[in-house]
Amino acid sequence: MNKTEIIQKTAEYIKTKLTGEGSGHDWWHVYRVWQNGLHIGPQEGTDMFVVELACLLHDIADWKFNDGDETVGPKLAREWLQKLSVDENTISHVCDIIKNMSFKGAKTTVAVMPTKEGMVVQDADRLDAMGAIGMGRAFAYGGHTNREMYNPNIEPQYHATSEEYKNAKGPTVNHFYEKLLLLKELMNTKTAQQIAEKRHAFMEQFLDEFLSEWAGKN
Ligand code: ADP
Ligand code: NI
Repeated sequence: MNKTEIIQKTAEYIKTKLTGEGSGHDWWHVYRVWQNGLHIGPQEGTDMFVVELACLLHDIADWKFNDGDETVGPKLAREWLQKLSVDENTISHVCDIIKNMSFKGAKTTVAVMPTKEGMVVQDADRLDAMGAIGMGRAFAYGGHTNREMYNPNIEPQYHATSEEYKNAKGPTVNHFYEKLLLLKELMNTKTAQQIAEKRHAFMEQFLDEFLSEWAGKN
């Protein structure tokens, strides 16, 4: 199987596995991350085989839904890539990226991606949590987990541990302050930074409008 076929097969596999997933990790999230990766990667001079595979496989099993077990994702990704006879270097690179990906709370230490490919994939994922799409995802996630949309009496929490972040029950708008508005500063690559600036400004504009409508100022 050549690289194009491997990527195609992997996309089909993930599409089947994640279609209809309701927490914000459905196939279309993966698809958008993949497209972001295809846009950013070439400008950063990366091995696109690794970038594409890691984008496609990055949410194969989310730690938040596996009792915090972060080893499930890389393990499933490895099994899949071995089945397709992908070379060991690529497999371990892809699995390392998946292991280091996730945002786990505003005050938790951020894993630094050791390779350019990892940086691109992490940026591609983080961009999908920003802007119009990111806000849409946040409200969808909020509905999925029975959160209030907004509550002026509940302050945002800056989570110090991944446990706190995972178990947080605050309203969706707080999540903007707890994560979405922090992402701009976390971009690894120049290309993603520029996209993040635009998405960040759009979220701020949305929040201004949201809060003034909430307060009845029209
Ligand atoms: P990622 O795929 O970037 O690791 P997460 O798994 O943290 O993102 O979350 C999936 C989606 O759900 C993201 O768009 C994220 O912003 C959103 N989300 C996560 N936690 C919350 C929350 N407490 N309230 C609203 N949206 C959330
Ligand atoms: Ni993701």
